[in-house]
Amino acid sequence: MRKKVIAGNWKMNKNPEESKNYLQEIIPLVKDVTSEVILCVPYIDLKCMVKHAKGSNIKIGAQNMHWEESGAYTGEVSGSMLKSIGVEYVIIGHSERRQYFAETDETVNKKIKAAFANELKPIVCVGESLEQREKGKTKEVITTQTRLALEGLTNEQVENTIIAYEPIWAIGTGKTATSEDANNSIKEIRDEICKIYGQMVAERVIIQYGGSVKPSNAKELFSTSDIDGALVGGASLKPEDFAAIVNY
Ligand code: 13P
Repeated sequence: MRKKVIAGNWKMNKNPEESKNYLQEIIPLVKDVTSEVILCVPYIDLKCMVKHAKGSNIKIGAQNMHWEESGAYTGEVSGSMLKSIGVEYVIIGHSERRQYFAETDETVNKKIKAAFANELKPIVCVGESLEQREKGKTKEVITTQTRLALEGLTNEQVENTIIAYEPIWAIGTGKTATSEDANNSIKEIRDEICKIYGQMVAERVIIQYGGSVKPSNAKELFSTSDIDGALVGGASLKPEDFAAIVNY
């Protein structure tokens, strides 16, 4: 039985003061949940969040990292820097980063390897665009992205990778994939992992759904056979909404 892992992705929202207030509100609301609860926040909030989440069941993640350890990469942050301040998770290859910041399957793969080298747990995003979906290419797109993202990882690393299936057309649009559709795509990703890394790894890997997850649809999504939690954007910005999702 896989554990549910529910992560909030704040994207480019909230300053340290706001993030501290948020934590104070949400900690008591999620203290009894059995799921893993993660908040992935802007770089400037990380240190404050790690400090104020100590002793609670909330884990802190970043939203990106560079694959090199250090060097002349203006504006970038490395895995070892994240590790040094107590960050545990990192989102890699979010569709917004692929779309607006030229991330490729190759850089995604490098970043995942660098995350593991720094003992950070990667949350790797895959998902098709509306155009790809309408052309019937969903399965091909998501299985290819998954295969290339995980290339060269050990079985143990794959088992410890969280995959977030986020259809791009469902992100921030209010349109959620039906639970059946989302579950089917996630099964296709799991089957692809099974083909390459074997059944044991495939059965253990956590695969989340992301795209307009809210308190009203969380329970249905989480009742399916293969959806192991969610990566939540907009609805993670309000403590009461995110707590409601976590307490589905
Ligand atoms: P929304 O929940 O706002 O649709 O965003 C999903 C997402 O991109 C999470 O990473």
